[in-house]
Amino acid sequence: MRKALALTMVLASLSCIGPGPVTNESVATLGPFTDPRAAGGARADRPPPAISGGTLGVTANVIVAADPDRDRVLLVRTSDHRVVELAMPVGSEPTRVAIADGLAPMALVVLRGIGEVATIRLSGGASPTHRWVCDAPRGITYDSARGLARVACQGGDLVSFDPTIDGALSTMTLPFDDLRDVMIDRDTLIVSRFHAAELVQLDLAGNVLRRQTPPIVLNDFGAGGAGTGNGNFVPSVAWRTTIAGGFVWMSHQRSLDATIDVSARTTTPPMVGQPTPSRSNGSPYGGSETSGGGIPRFGACSTAVVQSVLTQFNIDDFSMPNSVQIGPGALPVDVAASSNQAFVVMAGLQRGDVSTNGVRAVQMAQGGCGESAPGAGVDNPIAVAVLPATGTTVVQGRDPSVLMIGGVVIDLGGDSVFDTGHALFHVDAGQGVACASCHPEGGDDGRVWHFSDTGARRTLSLPHGLSSTAPFHWNGELHDMNELMPLVFTERMGGADLDVQHVATVTQWLDQRPTALRASTSAGETDLAIARGRALFEGRAQCAQCHDGPMLTNATTVDVGTGAAFQVPTLRGVSRRLPLMHDGCALTLADRFTANCGGRSHGAQDLTSGEIADLIAYLRTL
Ligand code: HEC
Ligand code: HEC
Repeated sequence: MRKALALTMVLASLSCIGPGPVTNESVATLGPFTDPRAAGGARADRPPPAISGGTLGVTANVIVAADPDRDRVLLVRTSDHRVVELAMPVGSEPTRVAIADGLAPMALVVLRGIGEVATIRLSGGASPTHRWVCDAPRGITYDSARGLARVACQGGDLVSFDPTIDGALSTMTLPFDDLRDVMIDRDTLIVSRFHAAELVQLDLAGNVLRRQTPPIVLNDFGAGGAGTGNGNFVPSVAWRTTIAGGFVWMSHQRSLDATIDVSARTTTPPMVGQPTPSRSNGSPYGGSETSGGGIPRFGACSTAVVQSVLTQFNIDDFSMPNSVQIGPGALPVDVAASSNQAFVVMAGLQRGDVSTNGVRAVQMAQGGCGESAPGAGVDNPIAVAVLPATGTTVVQGRDPSVLMIGGVVIDLGGDSVFDTGHALFHVDAGQGVACASCHPEGGDDGRVWHFSDTGARRTLSLPHGLSSTAPFHWNGELHDMNELMPLVFTERMGGADLDVQHVATVTQWLDQRPTALRASTSAGETDLAIARGRALFEGRAQCAQCHDGPMLTNATTVDVGTGAAFQVPTLRGVSRRLPLMHDGCALTLADRFTANCGGRSHGAQDLTSGEIADLIAYLRTL
């Protein structure tokens, strides 16, 4: 079905966006986060969506910038920097852009918030159209050989359509979900997977040809005081994957797969009157070693438990992937490469000052680490591109909304969307880790972490309406965010002290931010099975005794045969955040019912395999 709605096309108002009132005294308490607007705990009228990054597309003449915070797309002519603003539907969250170059060039923009793709003709001035593609579209590319747009959907569907006609969609369901970006290489499709940080090559019929992940790296920083950082770092969270110059480039994270000593504390709290806490002593999630500059590093490497990495794969066979750690900063949300250089956007570095610029220019050296230098910088960078003709870098800043083309900054207009909670959630707290490092896009990283005090702990997802599920953490030991933030942001992440007002902004943003649409239910499960599963869930299987209410949790801490009492987790979105349970013992929904994952002590005791299948069908719809 296609909705051909005419969208307004107006010239961007180039009004000046000045900073809010400056109240210097409490800036210091925010540590590395020095935006004066945060001092007053400023909040956006409409909470902006979590950062996903990678919102630029370029042709020889036009730069296309999607603006997920203001529901609009900006077209900027490269010759004279004239700006045209296209309004998109409220809540549509425009993100990835693909360019269909040719006689009638088009930009195809993923509208993540409403499951659609907008088609924008770049010449001729026709109004954009948009069509529904799937519940959770993520990546997009244009397959010029076949004249098709290809869209990767989180739930595992690859959707193709001809953007020039009002035709039908063709959908291929892959045997895995978690899809992120999609690329074309000759007669193959390449998709990346977000949490798995995996690259998969497929033929045009969807058969898997090749799978590859970035290498696991063993780091040994020697004995540290606070912070460990020693052990295997495994690839996770592939923010952005793109093709350039015969290589596939993936900007991703890698995370420590060893025990984190959480008894280690930052021993030097932030000094009054200083914008940043002393980083030299490290923190459990940061590192303890320094090599000058106050940034926790060992040699050129960050010792934080989450690292930012750029991996380069040979496009022909994905052989010998070469990874380089990028620092400082967090959240490598976008990458662009030219013939001899790659640029990575670190969205955790929100201020574009010279030493900690959020756009890092990366030299790929074999086995290198920290081989990056400040690139062109703006505040709050979220996307980077390289102009094909000139090799000029283009950087998009989210607030104020600007484009930097080469050294020239172009104001894209639009109101400020500054929100203190959003900023605190995404900022590198000071030791290379942001909340969004482990809770990317406000969700979870799909990982089981190992803590010296509690043991294995699956990262909890952060649902819309989070605060109604308090107390927090699997043990339920944290009553509310006023207990969580000092422990996590200040102690573990080595960030500055926060006051209750700042904590409230984070809580409010998490509670109220827009949430992406749900992934579709898996194929083959009938409405009848779902209905039977629901009846069981609410009835004989006794699940609703605990998984009850709008968030499907009664927020109690109970023992269901998994070794101790744990918080009843919400079941919202449960099928999209495997593995499950506090220690990740359930790799699939079915595993939840096996003996080593609680099994029979968890809900009704005598479920048949058919009943379990029905329950799973229902769980997938939540
Ligand atoms: C190193 C990874 C990591 C970082 C960084 C991190 N978290 Fe978490 N988060 C986790 C893990 C793991 C859990 C589960 C911990 C447990 O239960 O003991 C969790 C649990 C939570 C919960 C509890 C949810 C619930 O339903 O009980 C909230 C809320 C939360 N995190 C918010 C944040 C915020 C806000 C930040 C930044 C200040 C942050 N996290 C930083 C990994 C992380
Ligand atoms: C007595 C309370 C209680 C009942 C009844 C109950 N659960 Fe749970 N459920 C829990 C607790 C507590 C956990 C977390 C246990 C752990 O992680 O070790 C959990 C975890 C889960 C998870 C994993 C969620 C995640 O995010 O990791 C699923 C799925 C689940 N339950 C489904 C069910 C189903 C289906 C039923 C009915 C057959 C059921 N539960 C009955 C308390 C309960």
